[in-house]
Amino acid sequence: MAHNPYWEGKVDKPVKLGSWNKLRQIIHENDVAGAVRHLADAVRRRLDPEWRRRMRGYAAKDRVDIDFDRRYGVHTWGDIRLDHLGIAQQDLERGNGLYRPIDEKLFWEAMSLLKIDPSEFNFVDYGSGKGKVLVMASRLPFRNVVGIEFSTVLHEAAVANLRDFHSTDKRCGEISAVCGDAIEYSPPGGPLVCFFFNPFSPEVWVEVLEKLRSSWQAEPRPLYVVYTNLRKVEELGTVLSDCDFLEPYALSQRVLVYRAREMGVPLAEDRS
Ligand SMILES: C[S@@+](CC[C@H](N)C(=O)[O-])C[C@H]1O[C@@H](n2cnc3c(N)ncnc32)[C@H](O)[C@@H]1O
Repeated sequence: MAHNPYWEGKVDKPVKLGSWNKLRQIIHENDVAGAVRHLADAVRRRLDPEWRRRMRGYAAKDRVDIDFDRRYGVHTWGDIRLDHLGIAQQDLERGNGLYRPIDEKLFWEAMSLLKIDPSEFNFVDYGSGKGKVLVMASRLPFRNVVGIEFSTVLHEAAVANLRDFHSTDKRCGEISAVCGDAIEYSPPGGPLVCFFFNPFSPEVWVEVLEKLRSSWQAEPRPLYVVYTNLRKVEELGTVLSDCDFLEPYALSQRVLVYRAREMGVPLAEDRS
């Protein structure tokens, strides 16, 4: 991986630069006018109360995330820009640009909306990063838990976390991490929970949902799509409501759940 002062090839935590080194980095990456613009933007942002409120929220989230890592003996905390992970430019635009571990509360809020017996279901985390969702899902008696992640650096971190994490209450079957692109991933058979923590652009969603649709058409079965977003689920737009093999199931401000329609309800192409 190319040398990057923000990252230094570590898979456990991003490297924080001091103010002087940050300034040197900004000047190094921009011409003088660009650096002045950059600094003026930074000052303007810091004066914006909404930005300050958000930053306080992220700092609080980091503290909770670090506590999670300590409890489970894993390294998942800290946001990392995907361009610092050697992801190709065309893929950066398809991903949401960022690795960010999910907030523990949000995961459990999503699970509480699913009124299912996990022991009948496989669980897939789409865009599984360093495997935090997989660690949490392992506490439920899912048949198997699997994560799909396209960054090899994050995937390797997930493999290490899954090997090392300590939990006295692991209740699922096999847990595994797959390195690959979600749009090429064929989901496992059997009843399925597909989990998404705001991983990618609407264009990728459409392709992933198409994959799910053909898997479900080949094997109609209970299938839930769980979308989570730290801010508001409205950010996703209409990709789920536009998908005619799915129907709305549950909604909160940060969680949106759709499920496959009951068998026998005709899909658009069958209705002619
Ligand atoms: C917001 S992070 C969520 C990480 C993890 N699910 C968690 O909650 O801790 C989104 C992840 O999706 C991954 N991602 C984005 N596009 C992807 C794609 N097309 N295929 C696989 N992974 C992708 C990113 O690399 C990133 O790790």
